[in-house]
Amino acid sequence: MAGARSLIMVVLVFVIASNLLLVNANFPKSMYFNWGAHHSSIPGNGENIQLVLDQTSGTCIQSKKEFLYGSIEMQIKLVPGNSAGTVASFYLSSMGGKHNELDFEFLGNVTGRPYTVHTNVFLQGKAEREQEFHLWFDPTADYHNYTIHWNPTEIVWYIDSIPIRVYKNYESEGVPYPNEQGMRVYSSLWNGDNWATRGGLDKIDWNAAPFVANYRRFRARACEWNGPKSIRDCASTTAANWWTSPVYKQLTRSQRDKLKWVRDNYMLYNYCTDTWRFREMPPECSKPQY
Ligand SMILES: *[C@@H]1O[C@H](CO)[C@@H](O)[C@H](O)[C@H]1NC(C)=O
Ligand SMILES: *[C@@H]1O[C@H](CO)[C@@H](O)[C@H](O)[C@H]1NC(C)=O
Repeated sequence: MAGARSLIMVVLVFVIASNLLLVNANFPKSMYFNWGAHHSSIPGNGENIQLVLDQTSGTCIQSKKEFLYGSIEMQIKLVPGNSAGTVASFYLSSMGGKHNELDFEFLGNVTGRPYTVHTNVFLQGKAEREQEFHLWFDPTADYHNYTIHWNPTEIVWYIDSIPIRVYKNYESEGVPYPNEQGMRVYSSLWNGDNWATRGGLDKIDWNAAPFVANYRRFRARACEWNGPKSIRDCASTTAANWWTSPVYKQLTRSQRDKLKWVRDNYMLYNYCTDTWRFREMPPECSKPQY
């Protein structure tokens, strides 16, 4: 009897988890260059990757698979020294004009000045949901864990397991939420010196090129997108897995305290307080994000 019951359990878990993907660490298996491959490489065992920016071009890699919900991690060590005008990124994006996108962008700075972490959300092709932060450490000295956690109820941007931003699902109250199409994972390094550093005042110093950002240990604990049927399949897969489960949708008390600490001490810009820019605030701005 016990044997039969555990067999049923195994079958059930298999059915529920069939879309679940654990993409781990190995860049050549899980990602490819879509831009700038000529001056970049995946050295050694494929755990590390160097993104390069020089006067010929930047670099971008993208995941082979698309995901709907998951916890997507990347460890990144940013361009050191005078990185003004460079932008390194780690983001999720779907295809097409009405695309969704969840961004981490790292805006370089002149030597000794702090990086800015720029986050944004595109929904149905429309962005303008920026929040920006300074960091509480030097992101060029070592690798740090940047994670985008996306489940049916909320999106959380984490740095070293500290939540810096939350975007909750208020779809039932007229706020758009990304839950109808899969997204690929991208990482890139490019020239953003027309806007990135002090609003475009600090240009790239090409004498310091090539610029190199190091990425490692890409890990996607995520549900694979296989077209529209994934909308239902991935919602149940996600519900069955602790790292994205809506059951655990509430940040813990200590995570909420950390989120507040970041907002109080390191937030530079929040579109939701930019009354100069928006005549009418976006609808999510009046909803609690913890
Ligand atoms: C990176 O951060 C995420 C979010 O807190 C966490 O789930 C994950 O375990 C961390 N990864 C490592 C390798 O520590
Ligand atoms: C660069 O440094 C200046 C001066 O400290 C700071 O105001 C700015 O936020 C920093 N980051 C960027 C991307 O400009």
